[in-house]
Amino acid sequence: MSSELVRFSVAMPEDLLMSFDAFVARRGLAKNRSEVVRDLVRDALVDDAISLPGTEVMGTLTIVFNHHASDVQEKLHVIQHGHFGMIVSTTHVHLDEDTCLEVIILRGETTDVRAIADQILGTKGVKNGGLVITTTGQMV
Ligand code: NI
Repeated sequence: MSSELVRFSVAMPEDLLMSFDAFVARRGLAKNRSEVVRDLVRDALVDDAISLPGTEVMGTLTIVFNHHASDVQEKLHVIQHGHFGMIVSTTHVHLDEDTCLEVIILRGETTDVRAIADQILGTKGVKNGGLVITTTGQMV
């Protein structure tokens, strides 16, 4: 695959371009219009890749829970040990006297990573959280 830059022109409504330029400006001086378009194309390719079953992905799941709530810590422990081959790392932060934050890094097939994340997010006592998935695939 060639990494040489190729120029092409894009037509779009003027007000859309003005909004895009404001978006580019918010990203700071380090990025110009072309670089931001390349970032957006890469984001779209990652989104497309991670939507396909069978794609190897990395997932970062962040959850917040009250460690006093039922036996939530034990339940989270059992789920993670049940999938130890896919759990790369878990970081636990004590936010205050009651509240814990956990960041769980997962690696595996996209459907499996989403299923484990849904199981953890659906555990009684988990107050909120979210999964971010990216691909381990090569991006130009
Ligand atoms: Ni804690």
